[in-house]
Amino acid sequence: MNESTRTGQSGFARDVDKGLSSDPKFLSSKYFYDEEGSRLFQEIMKLPEYYLTRSEMEIFTDQAEEICSAFSPDGQPFDLIELGAGDGQKTAVLVEHLLGTDSSFRFVPIDISSDSIETLTDKFRSRFPELEIRPEVGDYFRTLETFKRSSPRRKVILFLGSNVGNFTEENAVGFFRHLRDVVNPEDRLLVGFDLHKNPATILNAYDDSLGVTAKFNLNLLTRINRELDADFDIAEFNHYAGYHPLERAARSFLISLRDQTVTIGALGKKFEFRKWEPVFMEISQKYDLAMIEGLAQKSGFEIVENFFDSNRFYLDSLWRPSDTR
Ligand code: AVJ
Repeated sequence: MNESTRTGQSGFARDVDKGLSSDPKFLSSKYFYDEEGSRLFQEIMKLPEYYLTRSEMEIFTDQAEEICSAFSPDGQPFDLIELGAGDGQKTAVLVEHLLGTDSSFRFVPIDISSDSIETLTDKFRSRFPELEIRPEVGDYFRTLETFKRSSPRRKVILFLGSNVGNFTEENAVGFFRHLRDVVNPEDRLLVGFDLHKNPATILNAYDDSLGVTAKFNLNLLTRINRELDADFDIAEFNHYAGYHPLERAARSFLISLRDQTVTIGALGKKFEFRKWEPVFMEISQKYDLAMIEGLAQKSGFEIVENFFDSNRFYLDSLWRPSDTR
């Protein structure tokens, strides 16, 4: 394939090509969220094993007052910007609380999934008719650029649900440094971290007994089949999840069950998979307090306040830019 054909490819095709041409092979979890993937993630959030959503929900329900009053202590109007908003279920708790105060704010949800954003916007418009909402569809990094051009109002940026876990610790520093470049001294950042805990509890969250997480991972192959004209045989791959307590990292893989060749029409290429060859799908990084302090500091932020759930399974950490960089 020549270079002009290559540059004509969508980001999805390019990334799939890159990942499946690498050794070891990988695919990016940011592509999990097509319509079916978003639906499956909704199911995951309801699983008894997937404690993350319930933990963050408990924090927001029990501490809405404390969290919201820390957003804009001087009462200045602000933009409540949510990166990776998903279904906005947890944010709705904060929005509902804020609407009951005399805070002046606008809600700006941003998500990679246009399906999620549409559903969220419809839900919020009917549930909160008085709310000013400006939805955006896009990649976090690309939409960061729009912050630079946006109004000089205070920004309160939400990065919830342990979405930060999909970055390695190193990439998280890069991401927050990037954010640091587009925020002003009075802006705030609320980040949801899944905390280090019993490794068995973490592993179960990514290897549920109903196999919903397996379906969620395999759905990316179905998406590649549909959108990139490929012929993955889903039955010939297995989901495998692991948690590494020293690295505090959960990782998921799809394992090829036999030697097989997959054709991706949109790339005009064939890819070989060996028997038991893993395709790395997703990292879900866990944190302890020292790691979070280090991350904030390395990225040019400082912690204003930490909000824990009653189990100390999870933490929403409120940050502000530090003076020194
Ligand atoms: C949406 C990235 C927070 O890593 O816990 C859930 C995605 N993957 N089960 C996570 C996910 C498998 C989830 N995040």
